Parts: sequence; C-alpha cells; structure tokens
Amino acid sequence: MQAMTHLRHTDAGSALDVEAVRRDFPILKKKVRGKPLVYLDNAATTQKPQQMLDALTRFYVDTCANIHRGLHQLSEHATREYEEAREKVRRFLNAPEAREIIFVRGATEAVNLVAHSWGRGTLQPGDEVLITGMEHHANIVPWQVLCQEKGAKLRVAPISDAGELLLEEFEKRLGPRTRLVAVAHVSNALGTVNPVRRIVEMAHRQKTPVFVDGAQAAPHTRIDVQALDCDFYAFSGHKLYGPTGVGVLYGKAGLLERMPPYQCGGDMIRSVTFEETIFNTIPYKFEAGTPNIAGAIGLGAAIDYVEGIGLERIAAHEHDLLAYATRRLAEIPGLRIIGTAPEKAAVISFVLDGIHAHDIGTILDREGIAVRAGHHCAQPVMARFGVPATTRASFAFYNTRQEVDALVAGIHKVQEVFR
Ligand code: ALA
Repeated sequence: MQAMTHLRHTDAGSALDVEAVRRDFPILKKKVRGKPLVYLDNAATTQKPQQMLDALTRFYVDTCANIHRGLHQLSEHATREYEEAREKVRRFLNAPEAREIIFVRGATEAVNLVAHSWGRGTLQPGDEVLITGMEHHANIVPWQVLCQEKGAKLRVAPISDAGELLLEEFEKRLGPRTRLVAVAHVSNALGTVNPVRRIVEMAHRQKTPVFVDGAQAAPHTRIDVQALDCDFYAFSGHKLYGPTGVGVLYGKAGLLERMPPYQCGGDMIRSVTFEETIFNTIPYKFEAGTPNIAGAIGLGAAIDYVEGIGLERIAAHEHDLLAYATRRLAEIPGLRIIGTAPEKAAVISFVLDGIHAHDIGTILDREGIAVRAGHHCAQPVMARFGVPATTRASFAFYNTRQEVDALVAGIHKVQEVFR
C-alpha cells in the first residue's frame, strides 16, 4: 500500500504521539459495556477533540448572533469568525478563492446542490452522467433522479475484483454526450483511492467537468483542488473531527457563477420586488437562510486541529495501521477482505465464512468495539462482490495497533460463538 497521492508535502515528519492526541478526545476515555471503547467506525463519523468542542461552546457562550445582518458588535464578531472559517477551508483545500467555498449541510447536500443547480440548468435529453461502480448512494441517486427527469443516461464505469476503477472502461464510457463525471476520491465501502488527477485529465480532454466526493478522503490526506484540477469537491465536517450538519462544496468560480440558486431565501438575495429578485454573488448565492454558523466555526477549529498535527503525519500513522490490520486480519481463517486495491485509505471491509456481518457487529459491540456492519450505503458495491453486507473497520489517527489487536481477538470470539 502506498501513501495517498496529491500531498502538497510528502515529508511525514516525526512520528505521531498517539497517546497525547487521544487525551484531546474526551469520548475515548469512555467504557462501553464495561470495556474500554475501541472506536473503529471513523468512516461513519469521527470523534471530536476538546479544542473543537471549545470553539462550539465559545460561539454559543460568547459570540452568538446571526451573521451578515446586524450592525451590532456580536453580529460583527460572528460574521468575522464564520468568514474566517471559510478562509480556513479555502487553505485546507488549496482553493484559489474563498468565494469558491460554500458551506452546506454535508457532502450529500453538496451533491444535491450540484445536481439541482448545475444539472437542471445543463442536462439535455440524451446527455450522460458518468459515475463509477464504487460510489456511495449519495453520489448515485441524485444523478439517477436528475437523469430520469431530463431524459439523460446514467453510465457506470466498472471496478475490478480488487475494487479498483477500470480506467480503460471508464475512458470508453467517456463520450461526446458525457456532461459530468462524478467520482469518489476514496470509496467508503472498499477504501480504494481513485486516481482523481488522471480521471480529471481524461474528462477535461472532452471538456467534461468533474465532481469529486471527498467525504472519505478529506480526513486522511492533504487535498489540493488546484493540483487535482477538479471542478467540484465536497466533504463533510463530521468526518473531519468537526460537528455534524456542516460540510463544504468547493466549485470553480466560473462554474458557480453560471449556476442558478439551489434554495431561495435570506442571504442569497440582494434585492426583491414582487416582479424580480436579484441574487447575491457567490458563495452567498448558495447559502440560503441562516447557515450553520456554529458548525462552520467548529469545522474551522477542527481544521486547525488536524493542521496542527499535520495531514502528512496523520496519513503516515493511518497507513501503518491499515497495513498492520490488513496483515493481522488476513491471518484469520475464513476471513476475506473485500477491497484489496494497492492504493487504499484507512478502511477494511471483510466477510467471515458462514457469519452475517450484523452478528459480527453485535458480538464485537459486546467487547466495546464499534465497527459498521451492513451495506454502507453502497449496495451496488455489495452486489459487485456478491455479498449482502460487510463488516467495516475504519481508522483515525487516534487509533492504535493495540486496538487492531482487540479487533482481531474480537473476531476470534465471534468465530468461537459460531463454532
Ligand atoms: N457514509 C458514511 C459511512 O460510510 C455514513 O459510514
């Protein structure tokens, strides 16, 4: 397994002091069913550092006011902090301009925003949207619904037995009618890292824009939207140690400016008469109503936190955990890892002979081990591998090799129960 690509710096620096970072996460001290919590469900949501929780509390205790509206001091402070958070996201993604950063509810809303706004304005009957066979439902269904409405066609590039995108097949499906490519940077069910830069190059040769679902990539690697040259990039705050209910859509300014509003009301309006409404400029055109102000500020604090540790150091530690866990799990008789691409992020999905994933998840829970069991909102991936469900362990930088050992011991217990 290689480190993920598109790092702006490749020097992992000194090793991560995991015990020190664990102290920043109050929940990690918790016992579950009398056992120390072993939290391995980070692809579903990550735990929160005290520094981020403090930023949320500070907003509500010290600064709480609506933004872009009041002339009073609290409103000015809240507005400044919200816009500072936007600038932190801009830096985090290396986006050229802060106006290209739109705060949304999460990656799912970002996909829906682009499907509604860009899609409804652009797609014609007979056009095509190209996705991959490893997408999360949130990066399938909005395009499927859009294509049905517009008489367009949803095309799917297949994946290999290892869970890698078959690039030649992808390129074959990229035709003159392809209006958009939508692709996950990292698969939530398999952990595969897609070669986004190459995908973008192929699509741009046809002048086709590319939407990247970065929900599972942003927590694990440094994202550089300029190096990727993607047209849209989305991620969720809660998977990046931030609060729930906030996320980001990055879009190239030229595209965003041409797109119609997605929702109407509040900040997205410049002036209204009963005859006509003039819309605000980007990014506000896409931020109708009072946004999740505290959420954006909390996300900014989460970004400060991960930047403080260093994305390169995070990637190196998680890469070590993934390699160790892959080795240990592969030793278990009857266990099959689903998703064995050479380039993977910190996700291991597996099945056990004769034991349903839900039983595995339930028995591991009795040991205080939190994993996800099911189809991971990626039913076409399950169908591709001929399994109803998998058990998924997903890592964050606060996880340890001892926790991987606890998972392995837990899986042995599961097997004993079913012997
Ligand atoms: N999409 C999230 C996951 O993969 C919830 O678990």
